[in-house]
Amino acid sequence: MSLRQLHLLGSPVLRQRAHEVAGVDDGVRALVADLFETMRAANGVGLASNQIGVARRVAIVSVQDQGEHVLVNPVILETDGRQVGEEGCLSIPEIFADVDRAERVVVEALDESGARRRIEASGMLARAIQHEIDHLDGILFLDRVGPLKRRRLLADWKKSRKGEDGYLKDVVPEDSAKLG
Ligand code: NI
Repeated sequence: MSLRQLHLLGSPVLRQRAHEVAGVDDGVRALVADLFETMRAANGVGLASNQIGVARRVAIVSVQDQGEHVLVNPVILETDGRQVGEEGCLSIPEIFADVDRAERVVVEALDESGARRRIEASGMLARAIQHEIDHLDGILFLDRVGPLKRRRLLADWKKSRKGEDGYLKDVVPEDSAKLG
């Protein structure tokens, strides 16, 4: 198990559609362990493999009082309702925006043992699951805000990145963010 570097906005892997996992083997379990270690160190509530540079359909979510879930090859079966709430992303630190999501989702995924699980989620957990599955499809929360708002957020992002180059960030445990 190891702490991984985070890929930040601008890294091409964040825009890739991640590949299905053929089976849950020790390699996938090691990836899941790295996701958990990195997410916890960064105080995230979810993390997708793309964010640590691996384009495989493996993500995790961890929402207080709603449990931790491993999502291997997740598929959304049902969505219901609507919620608007603030999101951030470990790959776009310090940038936050309100995002429209389904209030409730039913998702099917494999867990770290390879068992097929059905997860019914609402509220924050449903939001986190939708955010992470977006990552696996190369979609970022900034893509889900209006064009004017997005332009402003991207300007803020560029400003916050002044003097820094590259798209990799070491995780240090005092970092925090609202979402993976
Ligand atoms: Ni994210």
